[in-house]
Amino acid sequence: MSSWVSHLPKEVKYKRVVGHGLNAQELARNPRLDYFFVKDLNQDQKLEMEDASFDAVLCTVSVQYLQQPEKVFAEVFRVLRPGGVFIVSFSNRLFYEKAIGAWRDGSGYSRVQLVVQYFQCIEGFTQPEMIRKLPSAGNSEDDKSPFNWFMKWLGLFSGKDPFYAEIDSSSKPEFPLELKSTEEIDFLGSCNGLLLLEVHGEGKGLKLWNPTTGECQKLPSSCPSSNDVMGRTFGFGYEKSTHDFKDA
Ligand SMILES: C[S@@+](CC[C@H](N)C(=O)[O-])C[C@H]1O[C@@H](n2cnc3c(N)ncnc32)[C@H](O)[C@@H]1O
Repeated sequence: MSSWVSHLPKEVKYKRVVGHGLNAQELARNPRLDYFFVKDLNQDQKLEMEDASFDAVLCTVSVQYLQQPEKVFAEVFRVLRPGGVFIVSFSNRLFYEKAIGAWRDGSGYSRVQLVVQYFQCIEGFTQPEMIRKLPSAGNSEDDKSPFNWFMKWLGLFSGKDPFYAEIDSSSKPEFPLELKSTEEIDFLGSCNGLLLLEVHGEGKGLKLWNPTTGECQKLPSSCPSSNDVMGRTFGFGYEKSTHDFKDA
């Protein structure tokens, strides 16, 4: 939800910066955008972007205008790669007539809670990390603090308005294997949050995947390949004697 200004630090290079907004002329003046598109997210929330194609999505002083925030947050989640971040930042300024009622009638506290709820509506976002910075009363020590300096450096904090940001990351599990066109995969079972995968084809074998840590280890198999066990099922479990997992 951009316009002609960029808050991204000039000295940092990004592979690709995509802007979205309501006004094509404004977006065309934004020097940081490699590409932009115009869409009223209150009419249509679909983002014409591929799944898991962005490392980060930023929404700056705009969330208060969303009339269908859950649908927009769901789309953001879809386009974020696993571990990608969504940063929603806001202050107390708003176009009164355009903002939703809950935002207009709310306080700083209730607006923070509202954005937390937007994140919580989408299964897969982690618990949001909250940054709250209330204006200093000209306290020179505060103005010199590294946090303020950093926020000013990002162009996100002038020192006059309150600043709130909620940062959440996508906890989508990243599939650990790149399969060749000749290979196929079966999920054989799960135990203690681990998944047993069987690869068929060139790199055939059993793999134990921990979606939380992303680790994937090859398992020695004592079972015949599933081609030989038509009609039978097998999986894996924890073997107390070896303190490890084994197929069964
Ligand atoms: C105050 S501007 C902030 C622009 C930019 N994020 C910035 O910090 O400079 C609010 C922005 O919200 C976006 N916006 C407001 N209503 C919208 C809607 N219905 N659909 C999509 N975007 C909207 C527009 O891009 C508008 O520029």
